[in-house]
Amino acid sequence: MLATNAADEHRLLHLSTSLTPVVLGALIRIAVVHTRPSPPWSARQLMLALEGMGVSATYLRPDQMIAEFGGGVNTVRVQYHQDIDAFILRDIGFSTTIEQFLRRYALFKHLEMLGKPIVNPVDSIITARNKYLSLLILASKGIPVPRTFVTEDPYSAYRVAQQLGRVVIKPIVGSMGFGALMLEDADTAFVVARTLAQLGQPIYVQQYVEKPNRDIRVFVIGDEVVAAYYRVHANSWKTNIAQGAKPKPLERIDPQLEELAIRCCKILSLHYAGVDVAESREGYTVLEVNASPGWRGLVTATGINPATRIAQYVVSLCKK
Ligand SMILES: Nc1ncnc2c1ncn2[C@@H]1O[C@H](COP(=O)(O)OP(=O)(O)O)[C@@H](O)[C@H]1O
Ligand SMILES: [Mg+2]
Repeated sequence: MLATNAADEHRLLHLSTSLTPVVLGALIRIAVVHTRPSPPWSARQLMLALEGMGVSATYLRPDQMIAEFGGGVNTVRVQYHQDIDAFILRDIGFSTTIEQFLRRYALFKHLEMLGKPIVNPVDSIITARNKYLSLLILASKGIPVPRTFVTEDPYSAYRVAQQLGRVVIKPIVGSMGFGALMLEDADTAFVVARTLAQLGQPIYVQQYVEKPNRDIRVFVIGDEVVAAYYRVHANSWKTNIAQGAKPKPLERIDPQLEELAIRCCKILSLHYAGVDVAESREGYTVLEVNASPGWRGLVTATGINPATRIAQYVVSLCKK
């Protein structure tokens, strides 16, 4: 919303000194981006938090955005709203054609080149979704991750499963525990691996990390851990809330765990993230870093809703 008269200008000026988000006299417009036709719960939470701060919040899908450049023009227009100051990118869609994916990737790089804050950056979202690349990068920086093999050859997967005993085979891009299998027997692993190869899917095999019947979800925003909680599952090794795990409060967050989660976000250039950590016999092991985490479990376990903190964080980027 732009100030339309002197009274509005005065109000904006007054508010700007009392924490109301304004950029150069105009109210901030922030778009929450997702691919679904209507905003999912977390997107709605973010929009409510933004509006609660006096920020104009818009829900956007990537297909509503039009890029133009060359011939002296360089812009990304949004069908209904111009002048978006920042974007909270929740999802660019991973079940698309490669062409659609590449256009959306370029679109958010374009916005970045136009100087718009994107939270999280599209590069970081894509890296984090890629379980192979993200864990490899983390491991290269000394973060403990499970022993992992990635191949397209079922025979190699078979030999790895023979060597490791209990393994987990999971989609290289996946979430909520869907499609992850725990296998004790190399021949079963081979059948799974061969089927994946026949479907043109890579084979991602991980050593099973012995852990209690829980893992820890650490929620980081900026340089801080906002909250952490246990995800406890009485009868599954998969401790995703979507798989039936129960969120349970964690009385005291170990500073070592805090440091580990913050480091993961820094390494992957994520402004906020949910870091999944297993308590293995050797210490903390990072299973995954979620660049677009949900937070229903977090609210249930801790009463903390990070939407406001994320909104404040993004607004602070607009003012710089
Ligand atoms: N290597 C592993 N060893 C033990 N448990 C695992 C392993 N990998 C995943 N899990 C369990 O499965 C859950 C889902 O795995 P994760 O890698 O986080 O994928 P998703 O993206 O589906 O959440 C984890 O939260 C954890 O409980
Ligand atoms: Mg996970």
